[in-house]
Amino acid sequence: MNEKVEIVICLGSSCFSRGNKHMVKVVDDWLKEKRLKDKVNFHGAHCFSECVNGPVLKIADRIYLQVDTEKVIKVLSEYFNL
Ligand code: FES
Repeated sequence: MNEKVEIVICLGSSCFSRGNKHMVKVVDDWLKEKRLKDKVNFHGAHCFSECVNGPVLKIADRIYLQVDTEKVIKVLSEYFNL
């Protein structure tokens, strides 16, 4: 994996107040724990226009809807094959 994997968390007001406020730390802690911080470009973004299906998280080109802590860890583990 030469290019960094882009992970984008929606920090629009709907997603932020429905869980992504805490999810930033969950993802960040997970990346630190797995020593993946150098391999990813993790950042926030504004509304993905999917508020109804939020909170939203994007990994590479794929958008994950209705994420919670458990789902986030699951999709990250699957994506990175860990
Ligand atoms: S606030 Fe996240 S999709 Fe709209």
